[in-house]
Amino acid sequence: MSTLSLEITDLKQKAVHALWLPFSRASDLEAEGGPVVIDHGKGVWLWDIQGKRYLDGVGALEAMAIGHGRTELVEVATRQMRKLAFLDVFRYASQPAIELADTLLDISPPNMARVFFAPGGSEAVETALKLAFQYHYLRGEPQRRKVICRQGAYHGVTFGAMNCDGRYHATRTDIYLGDVRFGEIAMGPAKGAGWGKSARHTAGAAEFRQKVMEIGPDRVAAIIVDPVATASAVATPPASDFQELRALCDEFGMLLIADEVIAGFARSGRMFVSQLYDVQPDFLTLSKALSSGYMPIGATLVSQKVIDVFNNTHPADNIFTHGHTYGGHPVACAVALENIRILEREGLADRAAQMGEYFQRGLESLGNHTSYVDARGVGMLRGLELVGDDERAGAFGSARAACLWLRKRLRDLGLITLTIHPGTVFLLAPPLIIERAEIDALIEILDRGLHELDQALAG
Ligand SMILES: Cc1ncc(COP(=O)(O)O)c(C=O)c1O
Repeated sequence: MSTLSLEITDLKQKAVHALWLPFSRASDLEAEGGPVVIDHGKGVWLWDIQGKRYLDGVGALEAMAIGHGRTELVEVATRQMRKLAFLDVFRYASQPAIELADTLLDISPPNMARVFFAPGGSEAVETALKLAFQYHYLRGEPQRRKVICRQGAYHGVTFGAMNCDGRYHATRTDIYLGDVRFGEIAMGPAKGAGWGKSARHTAGAAEFRQKVMEIGPDRVAAIIVDPVATASAVATPPASDFQELRALCDEFGMLLIADEVIAGFARSGRMFVSQLYDVQPDFLTLSKALSSGYMPIGATLVSQKVIDVFNNTHPADNIFTHGHTYGGHPVACAVALENIRILEREGLADRAAQMGEYFQRGLESLGNHTSYVDARGVGMLRGLELVGDDERAGAFGSARAACLWLRKRLRDLGLITLTIHPGTVFLLAPPLIIERAEIDALIEILDRGLHELDQALAG
């Protein structure tokens, strides 16, 4: 073995034994000789430490909008670090935090009135949940403590966010939640109806209404949804569903939290899905493409309705006793600001709308494969459902195992993907700067992978 391959083996071993990879089993990684260790990226491409090239089909866990290797952001970060590397926003403010908050209010739905920064997506959701509880407390309804989410939803891993986990296939709230339970799940309709072709994973407004009635409307604080239902098999309910949820919240005095941690920032074809679907939520939770992942940052946008309640109550209770040391980090804010400028300057929302159509047609061209079930989504946020039922999984034993096999095979073929709820849907969310030829390359790799999967299923 050469010195270089010894070094690589050593690094991969350390990746298993020193680094704890979320949602991964160390023994599985070890069996594969360690995880792929990525060295650098450019545009939609990533290279591992052995020089192998991969197409980043999930945009670095859905964050990467403007593409890897953009030096503009490096320069902004360097400049800001030289000037002021860190300052909390507990009692002070920094220029980047003020400017970013102002910009976010400019580009978001018109009812948004204030921005609360957090280090990431889970914490942005946590902020919205606490604010929702306090809003009702201040209005004299402290008993409103239930939050309803959609079956198969994923809203993060902190204790509050975990409550809004609609039994997402890869999480274990059964171990962690214990008594800390306020989340309720609106279950999807029986198989054969509802959103998403396999139609088992998602609830629409009708199921939310049913859940509200079951709990009692005066006990419900909020409804939280990703309007595209990304984690719930990219089920992609129509705009009317989100609009009906807004009406349901208004009817019973509940708050609507739009979690656009994945779908926000141009990926849907508009800056936010709330604008695409013409809905004004009470909270908008954001992270990921807010900075294209160049710095960790999250934000909760808060509506005027909520701010008014805080402004008009007694000072003893209207302070929000919540905050993160690294919320509003000046370097992260400066980088996010530049990222938004690039999104706007390069027209990446319009581009996502146009390229998304092309991408969808490419995915539908895979319909000749026996493992193909459905392709769906909005803009550059797409779900490819494969295999479907366990009965079709042949020697794999389950549809989920077949898709896990394919995910690894696609990686070997040079495409990074992600399987989401219920383990049979591939989430495809490449960087928004992707070119047509690169979409063609992505489809070509999928075509090869599906061909192999079909053969394996046929046994
Ligand atoms: C819709 C949604 N909300 C919240 C989160 C949690 O964000 P984070 O991983 O930054 O904590 C995620 C993460 O994927 C998400 O998809």
